[in-house]
Amino acid sequence: MSLTGSQQKIFLRLLAALRPNWHTDTNLPAGISELFAANRAFGSRDRRLYRELIFTTLRFLPWIEPLLDTDPDRAAKAVAWLAADLPATRAYRAALCGDWPVCPAAVSAKASHLGASPDVLLPAWLTRHCPESAVVPNLDALHTRAPLWLRLQTKDAARVIAEFSAKQWPTRRSAILPGALEVLAEADVTKSDAWTQGLIEVQDLGSQLILESAGIAPGGRWLDACAGAGGKTLQLVALLGPKGHVDAHDVRASALRELEIRATRARATTITVLPTLPATANYDGVLVDAPCSGTGTWRRAPHLKWTTSAGQVSTAAEKQVALLTQFSDLVRPGGRLIYATCSLSRLENEDVVTAFLAARAEFKSEAAARPFEATPRSVGLAILPAAHNTDGFYVASLRRT
Ligand SMILES: C[S@@+](CC[C@H](N)C(=O)[O-])C[C@H]1O[C@@H](n2cnc3c(N)ncnc32)[C@H](O)[C@@H]1O
Repeated sequence: MSLTGSQQKIFLRLLAALRPNWHTDTNLPAGISELFAANRAFGSRDRRLYRELIFTTLRFLPWIEPLLDTDPDRAAKAVAWLAADLPATRAYRAALCGDWPVCPAAVSAKASHLGASPDVLLPAWLTRHCPESAVVPNLDALHTRAPLWLRLQTKDAARVIAEFSAKQWPTRRSAILPGALEVLAEADVTKSDAWTQGLIEVQDLGSQLILESAGIAPGGRWLDACAGAGGKTLQLVALLGPKGHVDAHDVRASALRELEIRATRARATTITVLPTLPATANYDGVLVDAPCSGTGTWRRAPHLKWTTSAGQVSTAAEKQVALLTQFSDLVRPGGRLIYATCSLSRLENEDVVTAFLAARAEFKSEAAARPFEATPRSVGLAILPAAHNTDGFYVASLRRT
């Protein structure tokens, strides 16, 4: 059997192993890693190939799943055609679908070649919650592999760029945010001096725009109330400068331990990890980067399209209003409250902030200091995926009067 033939066979076997879970398992990427680990013969190039093919399958699942039963060879060919052109996929794609035209970027053109419908690629409820997600250009962006963005934690960008260039990892600085660097290669940036020395953090450009859009002044004591592993905590530390301080809180102790490791690597000394919050406080600013459905991250985590329901989004929204209300008490009069999600659903975004503002008249919404061409909502801004080729986010900036 040819190399491509055996790769196709392995790929279809991997899909068969994942299929029982892909409509239910929110942690499917962990299952994929376990499958790879169980296949000891896989090298890193094999893992990159199969990972891209599996994620492509999940991204276009309603087009591929029926073919798996009726015509598995065509399913494999369609996935190869839809997959990104990467060093790890190039030879496989050429061998399997070289006789098809070059895969177009637009979802509608892909659909017409395969005789499929673009309408089935997103759950109908998301289209209701965020109509822009289902049309060009966001539909196309949501069905394209996510880019790799870094946040520079050094003013010496040239040092990072030179190291990456020597590793054959081309980079591109963001036109709108010079501290954001896109890596235009499949790179494991954790295997670089820049990473070890804390000069970079992996953070999507859209995520970086959340705090950048709010125009945060240096100095002051802030609370990052849902800090997770600290992606935005470290950015906040940088924005506040040496005179500022960030208390980082989360309910997940494991995330806070990861945050401490990252803070040490970044040599950030103005962070205190707070596993328990004080009953009262007077923070100059509180960031509520709320737990959410993650609908904005579907290009990176396409399995979530098939495991997330409208009911879960409504439940998340109720929790978000409760968290925003709880943490708002810790903002001093005159202080700032920033609410953010990585969701595209209005239920978790402007509807949450509107409900909060209706109940807490002492908070007012403020215009974004730097809107970065984001899409204005009734309150706050949606950072839609196509605006700057990012994940989708929402941010609202409020002030306690
Ligand atoms: C969107 S993630 C935060 C991501 C993080 N800010 C970052 O930039 O990487 C939401 C976080 O909220 C945390 N969380 C959930 N319920 C919480 C609660 N009641 N209080 C504080 N944090 C909570 C979750 O553990 C999760 O880490």
